Amino acid sequence: MFRVGVITASDKGSRGEREDLSGALLKELVKEIEGEVVAYVVLPDEQQQLAQKMREWADELSLDLILTTGGTGFSLRDVTPEATKDVADRMVPGIAEVMRYESYKITPKAMLSRAVAALRKRTLIVNMPGSPKAVKECWQAIAPALPHGIQILK
Ligand code: MTE
Repeated sequence: MFRVGVITASDKGSRGEREDLSGALLKELVKEIEGEVVAYVVLPDEQQQLAQKMREWADELSLDLILTTGGTGFSLRDVTPEATKDVADRMVPGIAEVMRYESYKITPKAMLSRAVAALRKRTLIVNMPGSPKAVKECWQAIAPALPHGIQILK
């Protein structure tokens, strides 16, 4: 069983003005790789807050995987990749490359996501775009390789 955390980055979601469908979807999707969401939070698009939560979940909870959704685009408030880079020990470019490569076959807008993936200690952190559609498409692209990667970190 992999222990997973989900961080939804959304100003509106954090104010209770938007239901977090993408976070709920990720809770279901991780079951496909024997994952269980043991930590979940909706945060505003604030770089420090996002980075702090990733640090806490990697260092104190030692989660296997942290999935973020939202905040990867061009809006000036979109800072999830920057927060991820703040806490990264090592980058995993291939995961984001494959998400964009597979997503680009569906929509050219895929190139507008600045999502990154990184390792902090034994935790893999993967950014995904905000919409449930994008989450599902990105998940399908990377899920086949995740268990092997996470296993190596254990
Ligand atoms: N990736 C997939 N697979 N499917 C999508 O519909 N939408 C794109 C892109 N990536 C999309 C996608 C769009 S429209 C944007 S603006 C960027 O992700 C950033 O999304 P975010 O700001 O919600 O993170």
